Amino acid sequence: MSKSSAVPHHVAIVMDGNGRWATKRFLPRVAGHKKGVDALRACVRHCGDVGVKVLTVFAFSSENWNRPAEEVSGLMELLVMALGREVPQLQAEGVRIRFVGDRAALSDKVRAGLEHAEQITASNTRLVLNICFNYGGRWDVAQAAAGLAARGEAITEQSLDRAMALAYVPDPDLVIRTGGEMRISNFLLWQAAYSELYFSDRLWPDFDGAALDEAIAAYAGRERRFGRTSGQLDPPAGRKAA
Ligand code: IPE
Ligand code: IPE
Ligand code: MG
Repeated sequence: MSKSSAVPHHVAIVMDGNGRWATKRFLPRVAGHKKGVDALRACVRHCGDVGVKVLTVFAFSSENWNRPAEEVSGLMELLVMALGREVPQLQAEGVRIRFVGDRAALSDKVRAGLEHAEQITASNTRLVLNICFNYGGRWDVAQAAAGLAARGEAITEQSLDRAMALAYVPDPDLVIRTGGEMRISNFLLWQAAYSELYFSDRLWPDFDGAALDEAIAAYAGRERRFGRTSGQLDPPAGRKAA
């Protein structure tokens, strides 16, 4: 297993750069987020076509509440609108939608929208689309630990792992960040421990199928060692690994 299998099972994406995409065109930032929805639709389709089974996207972070109120409300409205428009097609394409994050702070309308999307796509199996919304990696670790403590369970790596918000899928193989910033911004802090990282200078609205193919090709060339040495991987023919 020295080379990763060619197509990652689970891809996670920090969809960054919407605001800059809009500002460059003298448009309001929300116009960039709208374009970002188009890019996400294409990306979901492409993932299904190439055989990715789980796609996890960062749509709104715990820290994004600190943005101007009109951008925050614009993002909330856009989510509800996009779900209403896109869910029937996603349903037809076999996509299962799941939301990951703290729902308590969301309005009733937003919460109803995401619950509806989850319910009607619940039996789909072609691709799982996890939308991280009001999500933070630190929130996730804290909610997992709080859950274990409330149930009086011991805190171990395994029990925490099972209590994390994404416990129902394997850890991401490939984490992509668009928009040129080289940081994690409180995305999957726990789950990305051994993910391959890929940074693209493209702004999210410009990230298309070809760009995703480039990221997957880069991933296919990586050697995933998980702490071992290169020599321990792929034993030469006729010899068994120790
Ligand atoms: C990412 O794009 C989307 C969200 C955080 C909601 P940004 O809005 O952060 O775009 P830039 O980084 O300002 O260009
Ligand atoms: C990360 O992008 C969050 C999302 C893409 C939803 P940000 O634009 O919020 O990250 P920072 O603030 O530049 O680190
Ligand atoms: Mg940004």
